[in-house]
Amino acid sequence: MSMHDDVARILVSEEALRVRVAEIAAEMNAIYTDAEVPILVCILKGAFMFLADLTRQLTFRHEIDFMEISSYGHGTSSTGVVRILLDLASTIEGRNVVIVEDIVDTGHTLDYILRNFATRQPTSVRVVTLLNKPSRREVEVPLDFVGFEVPNEFVLGYGLDFAEQYRNIPYIGIAKPEIYQAIPEGD
Ligand code: IMP
Repeated sequence: MSMHDDVARILVSEEALRVRVAEIAAEMNAIYTDAEVPILVCILKGAFMFLADLTRQLTFRHEIDFMEISSYGHGTSSTGVVRILLDLASTIEGRNVVIVEDIVDTGHTLDYILRNFATRQPTSVRVVTLLNKPSRREVEVPLDFVGFEVPNEFVLGYGLDFAEQYRNIPYIGIAKPEIYQAIPEGD
């Protein structure tokens, strides 16, 4: 059995990802200059692959930092309870920040990060997310750059996991329901 057998269908191909990441980078290259030296904050673990591809296409000087936020565990729906597992190494006071997310679903994670960052008094905060699942939104959050809108399905690959696996799938796939229906919600 290959992990690809757990994918019902490909939602975003490798080629479509490559093209769209280049377009997002171009949008960001048009906004930021070397003078700002923004800090790109990669939200772990899901955004690592997106960050790696995005950063290589950016032409302005920037720094990279990481933050890990607790996610769903083995379930597929957010509880709204968010926790910092790894905090930034940098100080963002007086800095321009770009939050790099894999997917915005209910919005609770990003809302938490935005509120937390606001207390640290950065000069500016923008958000880039590879995927947006607007049908599931419970909290309104501002998104500055969005790769793709996705339907209300559980997706994996290109950094996104199910139960910590499938992150290495090079495309975005829709998971077969049987892979997560076997595990009780909230586990
Ligand atoms: P939110 O707090 O509900 O917006 O969820 C945000 C986080 O949940 C994302 O950063 C992902 O780590 C995870 N997530 C949400 N939807 C999916 C999905 O369809 N596949 C994999 N992870 C997801």
